[in-house]
Amino acid sequence: MRAPGNPIKGYSHMPVLCDEAIFYLNIKKGGRYVDGTFGMGGYASRILEAANCELFAIDRDPAVFPTALSLSQKYGKKFVPLQGCFGNMDKLLFKHGIQKVDSIVLDLGVSSIQLDDPSRGFSFRYDGPLDMRMGQCGLTAGEVVNSMAEQDLADIIYSLGEERHSRRVSRAIVEARGNHPISSTASLANIIRQVVPHKKHSKGIDPATRTFQALRIYVNDELGELDRGLAAAEKLLKPGGRLAIVAFHSLEDRRVKNFFNERQGKKTGRSRYLPPEADNSKMPSFSVITKRPIRPSEAEEEKNPRARSARLRVAERTSAAPWSGLI
Ligand SMILES: C[S@@+](CC[C@H](N)C(=O)[O-])C[C@H]1O[C@@H](n2cnc3c(N)ncnc32)[C@H](O)[C@@H]1O
Repeated sequence: MRAPGNPIKGYSHMPVLCDEAIFYLNIKKGGRYVDGTFGMGGYASRILEAANCELFAIDRDPAVFPTALSLSQKYGKKFVPLQGCFGNMDKLLFKHGIQKVDSIVLDLGVSSIQLDDPSRGFSFRYDGPLDMRMGQCGLTAGEVVNSMAEQDLADIIYSLGEERHSRRVSRAIVEARGNHPISSTASLANIIRQVVPHKKHSKGIDPATRTFQALRIYVNDELGELDRGLAAAEKLLKPGGRLAIVAFHSLEDRRVKNFFNERQGKKTGRSRYLPPEADNSKMPSFSVITKRPIRPSEAEEEKNPRARSARLRVAERTSAAPWSGLI
């Protein structure tokens, strides 16, 4: 059997903040848990090893399921792999007759297996088709860059990539695709590098980084998924159940933070000049456990540079009704 975390033809994924997430999930004998981002099963195996419990493991990427098979062989009925999006986890579990669970973990983004496989087209470090779809369905990044209006492209590159030079990038893309379609990660990266200033010999990030991030988030509707996942988790968790989320960029981390603060009853970013909100009847549905996000130790960052941007936030479900309606 392949060891989880080291599974596919020479690629590997090192789980990030795994000890910390497992600690906060409070795994107990007889409990029922959800890993909404199964990946290469690093978190999942740790949950199943922590106590005699049941785990529902969700991933949108069909490529992860050979790893899931090896966990099924080891843990039998205690391990239930489900292909789908965590934004639908309430519906996925409902189909199995499950309405409530004890804790949920989301380790957001892509795994190293996806990033390091050139055929998936996530990275400009390798040349490959411009794909970027985690679920291997829907529009590819290539279809987006070759068909989207210039202004819309600039908007997503700015808002999802936080790229100051978004207009220059979208103009260069539209000019280049006028000659021939942009079909590979290397050709897109070269187009971006020609228009985004980058100090030679500086250790800064590659000029293509932000645009690639924006396209990946857009193609996979990652922020929409996160919003749906947070609302679904609120419905599924029992009182006292924990929601632990590891985010790798500020757009996601901010969303998690704002959701937890709002559900805890803390007003977020509302102008004092606006009239009070009509509905003040909602009781806090979460209590925040990690007042500040948990960051990887220096040792973990050294071992796994990808961990550097990770932030773990955890909140505990109260007994109040979910704010986002029942199933
Ligand atoms: C960072 S990896 C998780 C790694 C995992 N914790 C481990 O230890 O191996 C993220 C995984 O979540 C999956 N994923 C990302 N967004 C998803 C979503 N909205 N629904 C389901 N799976 C998702 C990706 O396909 C990827 O396999």
